[in-house]
Amino acid sequence: MFLLAAAFNAAAAGITSPSGNLSLEVDVDSLGTPVYSLEYKSSVILSPSRLGLKADETEFLHGFEITGVDTITVDRSWEPVWGEYSTVRDHFKEMAVHLEAKDPSRKLILRFRLFDDGVGFRYELPVQKGSNYLTLRNELTEFNYTDNHRLYCIPGDYDTDEYLWSETSFTALPEALSAYGRHSEAQRVNGTTVQTPLLLKTTDGVYVNMHEAALAGYPAMLLDVDTDNFSMKSHLVPDRLGVSAYLQLPFNTPWRTLIVSDDARDILASQLVLNLNEPCKIEDTSWIKPMKFVGVWWEMFTGNVKTWAYSNDYLAKPGITDYSTLQPNGRHPANTENVKRYIDFAAKHGIDGVLVEGWNEGWEDWASYRKNRQFLFDKPYPDFDVDLLRDYAASKGVKLIMHHETAANAADYELQLDRAFSFMKDNNYDAVKTGYVGAIIPRSEHHTSQWMVDHARHVIERAADYKIMVDSHEAPRPTGLCRTYPNWLAQESARGGEFESMGGNPPSHTCILPFTRLKGGPMDYTPGLFETRLSYYGEGKDSQAGTTLARQLALYLTLPSPLQMACDLPENYERFPDAFKFIEDVPVDWADSRYLEAEPNRYITVARLDKHSSDWYVGAITDSDARVAEIDLGFLPKGKKYEATVYEDAPDAHWKDNPQAYRIRTLSVKPGQKLKQALAPGGGVAIRIVEKK
Ligand code: NOJ
Ligand code: CA
Repeated sequence: MFLLAAAFNAAAAGITSPSGNLSLEVDVDSLGTPVYSLEYKSSVILSPSRLGLKADETEFLHGFEITGVDTITVDRSWEPVWGEYSTVRDHFKEMAVHLEAKDPSRKLILRFRLFDDGVGFRYELPVQKGSNYLTLRNELTEFNYTDNHRLYCIPGDYDTDEYLWSETSFTALPEALSAYGRHSEAQRVNGTTVQTPLLLKTTDGVYVNMHEAALAGYPAMLLDVDTDNFSMKSHLVPDRLGVSAYLQLPFNTPWRTLIVSDDARDILASQLVLNLNEPCKIEDTSWIKPMKFVGVWWEMFTGNVKTWAYSNDYLAKPGITDYSTLQPNGRHPANTENVKRYIDFAAKHGIDGVLVEGWNEGWEDWASYRKNRQFLFDKPYPDFDVDLLRDYAASKGVKLIMHHETAANAADYELQLDRAFSFMKDNNYDAVKTGYVGAIIPRSEHHTSQWMVDHARHVIERAADYKIMVDSHEAPRPTGLCRTYPNWLAQESARGGEFESMGGNPPSHTCILPFTRLKGGPMDYTPGLFETRLSYYGEGKDSQAGTTLARQLALYLTLPSPLQMACDLPENYERFPDAFKFIEDVPVDWADSRYLEAEPNRYITVARLDKHSSDWYVGAITDSDARVAEIDLGFLPKGKKYEATVYEDAPDAHWKDNPQAYRIRTLSVKPGQKLKQALAPGGGVAIRIVEKK
């Protein structure tokens, strides 16, 4: 519904959000450089900050005049295929600022959308009189903050986002970033560069999530931070020649996004990044099915015994192609018998899928720098009987999930893609987990460069052609493209639960991800860890997960995803069947979500309504401090009686010393009742609320 449209010529231009709480102004400075500024209620969020682009052929930075401004108000809603809400409202005021420069002639449109929960803006490059091919060197988007705000961030890196988060400030940032070690095979940008999504809390108490939406045909954006001036500037991920992007005009950049509120819960509830993405491009979405899964996976991470590879013979025989001549190493869990065991477990507990990693040829030497084996995506190892498992899984009503580790040979993966997806469909697989571990070979691209961003979208589009759902690991961080391609169920793109076996994730880690990483889309975090004392597969070192058992259940609510793993070994679940009942019950698709309490890095309490029943679920987590969550049941419809099953930390539970101490109790609850719920240090609570019949 378009409520208002206007066009006028102006020297400066301004616009507010629908409620007026945000206001933005655009002007050009004395050099003809576009500048914008942003206010929220009575706080200046951004003081005048410059905008521009620089290519080898030309620049879009100087000599501009504003030649016209169009404004429009839009209020509409849409229904996601899956997500946190069954309906999403998309309500904004938009302003398109038309700019022109002479000698040489250049045209640029800056499009701003102001929502009540934030701002998105992008550069639009129409067809030019001069060159319409651009070799883009950088984007010069500034974000000039006004004070030494608190920052929640991870280091700028062209290849990975699998870091723990720092809670720091502009002036303390150099010290915070210098504490990070080098990440193997990833290129960290030294100095004070960070990556998005990141979160700020201003000295006035306003929260700002910074990210981008609809990243396509363009590299990901990092931010160079000027710590003395509280300022940030875009830093596009380059290719090996230092080029950020090869563009053909007309072209629109991704949206630069700021989610803004003085209430931390609004940051979590915001759908702004999704709203700035294109509507769903897949016509028939009936085959896209949110699901839970278990996997032949954790065995390779814990216990220091199992391997993805079938054999250890590879070093003696480089270049070997006939696997039947290799000696099995006897430590290969992706074998027919073991996979049947997982299928049986899934069938018994109503879990939809079983992921199998290490089923195909190529794992010998996969993670080494030599990479002298090629992964083949239609060649099972000799001990993995594809036909038998296809029929066995079907007879048990369980879906097998394919795994495609590419070891970052993305170019080769593209060549094999059709064969790989045909093989999947022939064998009844509807979902694939992809992976890009290590340096991108042989192209020497970075994981988040333009070429890899394009690769990721290409894989998703081809997968959609085959009606295949995707969970990508080590791919460019998500920017809401899952709205356009809802077969992109989840991504990793952050430090996931697997790190519990490699030193552990502190409890605060899952209290910051929803404010940052999750604003781009769901994460395959792999919750559900019941045995929290672990040893790391590579080193045999002990590792202690930063969590209680009850908290692991809460993560299914606080880290929403249409694809949720139950990551632990079946034998660990069999030890705690009453707690596992929650994982059996918890949905992965929601009609509604209410964030009840939130503070970044500290705590989150959320209630969600199942999309397919009237059942509500509540999850609450805390950092390493004990906490009493206040759960206001005001969301329950009145006039009905409810029973709550509470999965909570026992009074003496503690993530470090007593993580498996939990209790399950049932109680009658009423709409509007306020529950006080104790959470252990590193703990959490998960509650299922059903109507009493
Ligand atoms: C890293 C992924 O994050 C992990 O889930 C996977 O098991 C390994 N790569 C092997 O592909
Ligand atoms: Ca990973």
